[in-house]
Amino acid sequence: MISTDERTLAPKKAIMEWARQPMDAVPFHQPVLLEEALEGLAVRPGGRYVDCTTGEGGHTEGILERCLPGGHVLALDADSAAVDAAQRRLNSYQPHFTLVHGSYAQLGDIIASHQFGSADGILFDLGLSSLQLEASGRGFSFRRNEPLDMRFDTRGGPTAADIVNSYHQEELARLLRTYGEEPRARSIARAIVQRRPFDTAAQLAEVVTRVAKPSRGGIHPATRTFQALRIAVNNELDNLQTGLEQAIPLLKPGGRLVVISYHSLEDRIVKGAFRRESKGCICPPEVPQCVCDHVAQLRIITRKVITPSANERVRNPRSRSARMRVAEHLQGITQ
Ligand SMILES: C[S@@+](CC[C@H](N)C(=O)[O-])C[C@H]1O[C@@H](n2cnc3c(N)ncnc32)[C@H](O)[C@@H]1O
Repeated sequence: MISTDERTLAPKKAIMEWARQPMDAVPFHQPVLLEEALEGLAVRPGGRYVDCTTGEGGHTEGILERCLPGGHVLALDADSAAVDAAQRRLNSYQPHFTLVHGSYAQLGDIIASHQFGSADGILFDLGLSSLQLEASGRGFSFRRNEPLDMRFDTRGGPTAADIVNSYHQEELARLLRTYGEEPRARSIARAIVQRRPFDTAAQLAEVVTRVAKPSRGGIHPATRTFQALRIAVNNELDNLQTGLEQAIPLLKPGGRLVVISYHSLEDRIVKGAFRRESKGCICPPEVPQCVCDHVAQLRIITRKVITPSANERVRNPRSRSARMRVAEHLQGITQ
């Protein structure tokens, strides 16, 4: 069993070890589709941009490079360790950025409380960063013997251990099927319930690996279970829907929205939001006359998703599943 002290100290210890590394060993995270994202955002000097998922600040730094002189970036992240890492990386760009520890699900309030006004571009780079996977001490990786936490924001909410140790078998199976698209959801849920309680990511990975089938794509058998738990712990899909809904009206006319997603559940939400907001009428086809009064807010720029080049996929294997979509705002907000 992991003691409460170990549970609270493990993330801090891992971050301190990471911070003690020589500077050439950091940053951990290679920003994915960096050039493509900057182009998608159409970053220009004097522009005002929001990076909803600053992580280790890779994309934020790229935006700052191009929006100065005169520009500003509001960068946020739900993970306080990411905010600290971004602060270290971006220090020399003071005072041209504002870093906020918060969720893009509250984007409207965050923008309002910082009196940021409307934006020339908003970026979402979803998923988790290499820092979180390799050095957060929060059990995101099935390869690590860390407490099974998986929260981006550790200020509250249930951990992954709370979920696997308390959900009914059926609820667990549903979660694994819905958020992990795991074909062996029922068998894995049964094995989890028989073996629990779990303290660490490695304990859970061991049980799941015994039951789950290795996939044809060569991904680790515990990948889908870990993805499902992370999505559930962080309420990722609802937050994405809410974040996109809040972001669109915050764009200036001609302002760009760029979203990089890493699995089909995320991409489906992005595609749906882009499609809906690029249409005038959204009445069901059986309604003879429009009653919705919906007004198109977006023009879709990327008819097909943008994916990393073969070169980037080799250089940065974590980019492999990335899919980027870009849209442009048609009307402004009244502020
Ligand atoms: C792929 S990483 C971003 C990496 C970053 N673009 C870079 O170049 O370093 C995704 C980040 O999104 C953050 N995140 C996840 N959900 C969030 C939310 N609801 N609000 C804000 N940040 C969130 C995670 O904590 C993580 O740091």
